[in-house]
Amino acid sequence: MSSFDWGEFQDQTIAVRAGHERTQFREHSEPVFLTSSFAYDSAEQAAACFAGEEDACIYSRFTNPTVSVFEERLAALEGGESCVATASGMAAITATCLGLLNQGDEIVASRSIFGSTTVLFNKFLPRYGIAVHSVSQTDIGEWERTITPNTKLLFVETPSNPLTEVADLKALAALAKKHQCLLVVDNCFCTPALQKPLALGADIVIHSATKYLDGQGRALGGAVVGDKENVGEKVYGFLRTAGPSMSPFNAWVFIKGLETLNLRMKAHSESALALAQWLEQQEAVERVYYPGLASHPQHDLARQQQTGFGGIVSFVVKGGQKAAWELMNRTQLLSITANLGDAKSTITHPASTTHGRLSPEERAAASIDDGLVRIAVGLEDIEDIKADLHFG
Ligand SMILES: Cc1ncc(COP(=O)(O)O)c(C=O)c1O
Repeated sequence: MSSFDWGEFQDQTIAVRAGHERTQFREHSEPVFLTSSFAYDSAEQAAACFAGEEDACIYSRFTNPTVSVFEERLAALEGGESCVATASGMAAITATCLGLLNQGDEIVASRSIFGSTTVLFNKFLPRYGIAVHSVSQTDIGEWERTITPNTKLLFVETPSNPLTEVADLKALAALAKKHQCLLVVDNCFCTPALQKPLALGADIVIHSATKYLDGQGRALGGAVVGDKENVGEKVYGFLRTAGPSMSPFNAWVFIKGLETLNLRMKAHSESALALAQWLEQQEAVERVYYPGLASHPQHDLARQQQTGFGGIVSFVVKGGQKAAWELMNRTQLLSITANLGDAKSTITHPASTTHGRLSPEERAAASIDDGLVRIAVGLEDIEDIKADLHFG
């Protein structure tokens, strides 16, 4: 079915069907090709495949049929020409930067990005002569003032982790176009089920498949989606050489995860909204961050560019780190873990975990308060989730 035009189908159909071409065994479910390399009938055929004259798999660091099903399915859901699967979400971000940038190039990135992305940008990329400038997620004027003739990428994650700040993707896409750079969007929190950055003008979409694409906290993976030249050639060219490729088994887990993505994202969003509304009423809670709340500063923008508000709710408890840790230690159902996007609800203290490698100044700049708690609302009954939160 890989030659199908998936553009004619609805998302839920694409998520269940796209990318799988049955083998001679006529299997119904997608097979897992756990093989490092592929064999040929003759030396001549091997030579033709290595020369690119025959379209065939060579080695699983380059291509693998199970990984290709995942790539094709995700590309169809995001509306991109090409998708490259990677070993993790961080591998997707690293491959995008190193595949597309040269020494002397610059990135303008939101300050409100995931902790490891901040470390990659502030500590490692500068070693290779790539400067990264941080700006406010929501101040388009600051983005524009920070762009220089050397700027090649604008990088944003929306909604952001953990404060769920929403960036205006159409405005950033227009800015990228005006200054001839690429807009790269980490679509981890929404997934294509709730937001399609390419349709809003972005050039490249990044995923940590580890999160909602899997949906059950089982495997690490990532993906880069975009056009043939930048993603299909440049990012892929770096990846097949440098090596952080997705394992076929993990690809199979993500293929199965995609089949239920739309249903899960709706359920996560519904429960997260109910939890956020309930948290707003709690005396011990100073502030709630959730794009679905009317009190969220970018609520209207989130309504325009997303079809749902996602499963992440963050809030500041009165009493700083002590109160936050006490709340977490009283939970019995919620899992104290840094992952998100799981069927099981998770509770995290960003300042001491996901954002713990940031300096106190970097944390302050990103508004990561010591009393901040993030809940990735899972698929348990919402009443049980609320009942597990005891505010002392
Ligand atoms: C928004 C976001 N992007 C990227 C990543 C990195 O993904 P991975 O852990 O799969 O490398 C994460 C991980 O939590 C994340 O939350």
